Amino acid sequence: MDKKKRILTGIRPTGSLHLGHYVGALHNWIALQEEYQCNFLIADYQALSDHFQDTELIKKSVIDVTLDWLSVGLDPNKSNFVIQSYVPEHAELSMLLSFVTPLGMLERNPTLKGELDSLPIERRSAGFFSYPISQVADILLPRAHLVPVGEDQAPHLEMSREIARKFNRMYGEIFPEPETLIGKVGRLSGTDGKGKMSKSQGNVILLSDSEKTVEKKVRSMYTDPNRIRADIPGKIEGNPVFQYLDAFTNNDSNVKDFKERYTTGNIGDVEIKNYLSKTLNDFLEPIREKRAYYEQNIPIVEEALDKGINNARIMANETMGLVRDKMKISSYKKVW
Ligand code: TRP
Repeated sequence: MDKKKRILTGIRPTGSLHLGHYVGALHNWIALQEEYQCNFLIADYQALSDHFQDTELIKKSVIDVTLDWLSVGLDPNKSNFVIQSYVPEHAELSMLLSFVTPLGMLERNPTLKGELDSLPIERRSAGFFSYPISQVADILLPRAHLVPVGEDQAPHLEMSREIARKFNRMYGEIFPEPETLIGKVGRLSGTDGKGKMSKSQGNVILLSDSEKTVEKKVRSMYTDPNRIRADIPGKIEGNPVFQYLDAFTNNDSNVKDFKERYTTGNIGDVEIKNYLSKTLNDFLEPIREKRAYYEQNIPIVEEALDKGINNARIMANETMGLVRDKMKISSYKKVW
């Protein structure tokens, strides 16, 4: 058995991944693969929480996310790629944990509260209300030690620890208390300068966008709205063009020079945007090449998923054997 500590983290398959996912999560996950036994979950059950009316999108996104992961360098030989619904023990554990989860714990969860408030009433399902329990099950099923996530997921991690503790105390020690790993990750705003990035808002650059699409999106990117002429001094803070340049360059002297000239009104937007397009396309080009390779070699993609799912099933079986035993479920043969 692997001596490395286990990581589980995941994503809802509700669209292709974009630069925000890269900066906020994938970049970190790629590095973690060396030191930890990583399990990357495509949470298609959880995607039903807000997309139960759009299962075609979920189905398509499962493959899109897998291709995005492979293209950026998540490595199925080092890590497990897992599709949640292929390991139905996720559902079983979630159901069992729901009985030890106090309602108040869900009612107090600020992330859940915010999401529910912004959801039209006819789309607020019981499953949505209890999805944090299913996320706890995702984490506890492989008995993960660490969970790398963004700040917004911290309440779900807090719940995971509380439920792990309660289970261990009531029924017997099974689960490590999973730690939150909020890494040195960045945040990108949308190309329109808004905080929230979403494909439906049309303010994201996808990892799978073509060179031309990137150029087009960068050209229409939001900048300092007060700078209506190139000789007006502009603002760097809150300016997505500079935010993206900072995220995808490292100590670049051109960027320093652009900032200097921008704040003193000595440069046009076009010159900076051209540079940003080139920077992003240089970054995305090897990712596109890898994507094209996998798209032409789908059996390799399937093999990656099969392997990850298989490993996850083995872990899940082991955990569920312990859970059923401790909870005295499926145990009638142990009576006589
Ligand atoms: N809730 C996460 C998101 O919306 C996805 C997710 C599902 C997850 N299961 C998880 C994250 C387990 C961390 C651990 O992106």
